[in-house]
Amino acid sequence: MLTLGDILDLGSRKAAPGPRGHPILGSLPAARRDPIRLFTQCFREYGDVVRFRFGPVIAHLISSPAGVNHILAENNKNYGKQTRGYAALRYVLGNGLLTSEGDFWKRQRRIAQPAFHRQRIGGFASAMVRAAEDCARTLSQKRGQTVDVHHEMMRLTLRIVGETLLGYDPSHDADDVGDALAHLLHIVNERTTRVLFFARPVLPTPENRRLRRAVSALDRIVLRIIAERRQTRGDDLLSMLMEARDADTGEAMDDRQLRDEAMTIFLAGHETTANALAWTWLLLSRYPAALRELREELSQVLGGRSPTADDLPRLKFTRMLLEESMRLYPPAWIIARSASGADEIGGYSIPAGSIVFVAPYVVHRHPKYWSDPEGFDPHRFEKEPPRGAYFPFGGGPRQCIGNGFAMMEAQLVLATMAQRVKFELVPGHPVEPEPSITLRPKFGLLMQSAGSPVAGAR
Ligand code: HEM
Repeated sequence: MLTLGDILDLGSRKAAPGPRGHPILGSLPAARRDPIRLFTQCFREYGDVVRFRFGPVIAHLISSPAGVNHILAENNKNYGKQTRGYAALRYVLGNGLLTSEGDFWKRQRRIAQPAFHRQRIGGFASAMVRAAEDCARTLSQKRGQTVDVHHEMMRLTLRIVGETLLGYDPSHDADDVGDALAHLLHIVNERTTRVLFFARPVLPTPENRRLRRAVSALDRIVLRIIAERRQTRGDDLLSMLMEARDADTGEAMDDRQLRDEAMTIFLAGHETTANALAWTWLLLSRYPAALRELREELSQVLGGRSPTADDLPRLKFTRMLLEESMRLYPPAWIIARSASGADEIGGYSIPAGSIVFVAPYVVHRHPKYWSDPEGFDPHRFEKEPPRGAYFPFGGGPRQCIGNGFAMMEAQLVLATMAQRVKFELVPGHPVEPEPSITLRPKFGLLMQSAGSPVAGAR
């Protein structure tokens, strides 16, 4: 919200160009209707710094790589997470790694970091491959039938994150967890673009009752996992969090904090990777030459066996394919921050208390930094992308802690599965990205499991 001081201050500096929108609501109705379209069109029309008004709130979309770097890294201290989206997420995730801030966040990040070190996550490779083999087996038995590939990827990544980081096998309630999380994300996203915003479900409306029920259902599951872990410690992330002690007070985390961290890992650790994989299967069905090249690489490097972590450096095309897929369909398609102090970006004024957005979806298509931005070409990743022009995992100190985990998982899943199955989109099935908190296929991804395995693959 703008103060009088900010308005006076704004008068003395240059305001960025942007759409006028509705006299009272500004661009809020357009953002509710189709935020991707709003941001993409305004970037094309107004450039690297666009000023919006959403009701009384001023927001800027920043799309130059230097501006992205300024917000996420160089001047990150000025750009916190006091935004609507994060406020609504806090109701579900509490004060976990994704939503917390300041010294508290720093401490939690320090404790969790070792669980994501390269060597440590290398140890998860066999669990990832086993889960992918099971998924491929189930789907190849359904050859000729229609499956929702997005749903299958959600189940798969939920199992992987559950087994490796939380020491939990979600196979018996995977659908409950998946459905509740998807439902929560949907409601959280819906609320952030309403005129009247409540981060918490204050009124006893049917939607609020559903929201509370979904949170309690997840709470029950997560608290059960924590109780089980207290009985038998493992060497997973949850056990590490349980064993951590505050350097000053010697205190351990209580069940509430453990719940918040576990819920965060559940959500952040499976939704995004599942979307990345689902979009990749779609692209492979649209571009048969890419599928051929992928299968040739898998045949050469693996010859029909499943991959291990040691194979990853040689699975170059597999990696580039995922990178290109996340360029076109970045699972975290937009990142929001609130400016605590006034700032200037690209010569334009950013008032204190206003919101800034950086959108991988927009910057990954910036014509100054990407040739043929809408085209699909995995080989463009043979060269390093320009700094700040590619950031599917965010940047600066709040960069995704699961970056290495996710890339390894996606590469192993794709390398395992693409040797055994392939998918064709069901004719006429609509494909539309739904820009919720993550970018998911709006109507699922109905595909037919088809085709024969590569030579030697079982
Ligand atoms: C393709 C997969 C993934 C993508 C695209 C992705 C993307 C992101 C992005 C963009 C952020 C930064 C958000 C911001 O700055 O506001 C983030 C943060 C985070 N991600 Fe991921 N992520 C992925 C997978 C994972 C996985 C597998 C895990 C855990 C196992 C994970 C856990 C987290 C956590 C805990 C944070 C908060 C980190 C912090 O603030 O310290 N993510 N992710």
